[in-house]
Amino acid sequence: MRVLITGGAGFIGSHVSEEALEQGHEVTVVDNLSQGLRENIPPQARFVYGDILHPEHWLSTIGPVDIVIHLAAQISVPVSEKDPLTDFRVNAEGTLRMLMATQELGAGQFRTASSAAVYGDADHLPLSEEERVHPVAFYGLSKHTAEQYVLHFASKQDLKAVVLRLANVYGPRQRTQGEGGVVAVFCESMAQDRLPEIHGDGQQSRDFVYVGDVARAFLHRLQNPGSPAVYNVSTEIPTTVFDLFTTLSKIAGKPQDGFRRAPVRIGDIHDSVLSQNKAKSWGFEPQTLLRDGLWTTWKYFLNRELHAE
Ligand SMILES: NC(=O)c1ccc[n+]([C@@H]2O[C@H](COP(=O)([O-])OP(=O)(O)OC[C@H]3O[C@@H](n4cnc5c(N)ncnc54)[C@H](O)[C@@H]3O)[C@@H](O)[C@H]2O)c1
Repeated sequence: MRVLITGGAGFIGSHVSEEALEQGHEVTVVDNLSQGLRENIPPQARFVYGDILHPEHWLSTIGPVDIVIHLAAQISVPVSEKDPLTDFRVNAEGTLRMLMATQELGAGQFRTASSAAVYGDADHLPLSEEERVHPVAFYGLSKHTAEQYVLHFASKQDLKAVVLRLANVYGPRQRTQGEGGVVAVFCESMAQDRLPEIHGDGQQSRDFVYVGDVARAFLHRLQNPGSPAVYNVSTEIPTTVFDLFTTLSKIAGKPQDGFRRAPVRIGDIHDSVLSQNKAKSWGFEPQTLLRDGLWTTWKYFLNRELHAE
């Protein structure tokens, strides 16, 4: 299939691009390189420099496309709190513009990334897709608004749409800022022989899902996607930040007490675990064990550090 990937120079988009090429698809990446890197884009993919807010500048160069995988976004919660208008424009307006572009390109399918941030704090876990959403930050609100546009557009335009609400994604090429970057932050600190910071008592838990599994989810059932729907992409396994640190320090051969305490971060959700049931009924399940994913991620950060010297 001919696949257009927005945000393909970013962390998740670069893995989706690689997986799509591996599965034999033709890949075009659109990215404005505001956060992503040119070198993240696989050489076999075609790169078009462009902004999702201004498709009129680049759309005519794209050619026929079967599916749009929309991953370009503003992903920082603190940025969304400081500048909700930019966050809204990139995440909500940007998604609507990409839906309209999908129609202009004649593509029959649209997939996009949403986030566990749409759920906000909850008094029970794991959270299913039917749960009432209650975002605590502008970021969660703009991602949820984007979801609504996707589903509304799909119902009106006969578009096969899939929204994937991603848990905490980790893996090679993740930046150390932004959403869910604790694995990248710990790996970078350890690779640079600095002590990672653990906020609060470290007992806050997250549902860590490996980026390779997320990439497979975006390409799952392209031939037969089913009705427009929202699916969580998660492992449903809670891991505390402290346990994450312990596992990583063993992998990296660092001392178990090699961390610094830092204050609790205001606005952080304490626990986040997403149900896998609906994704399983769609036939998708992550395959990578946390230990294996962390090992691959640690090797990436260590190599990057060695080559930077
Ligand atoms: N990383 C996570 O843990 C996580 C969790 C949940 C959801 N998500 C979602 O997954 C998607 C990808 O996230 P990521 O972690 O790969 O982020 P990323 O910042 O690494 O990638 C985003 C890419 O979009 C590009 N971009 C940003 N604004 C653009 C614009 N206006 N026009 C064109 N390109 C633009 C950036 O240059 C970057 O390459 C986002 O929708 C994000 O909200 C990520």
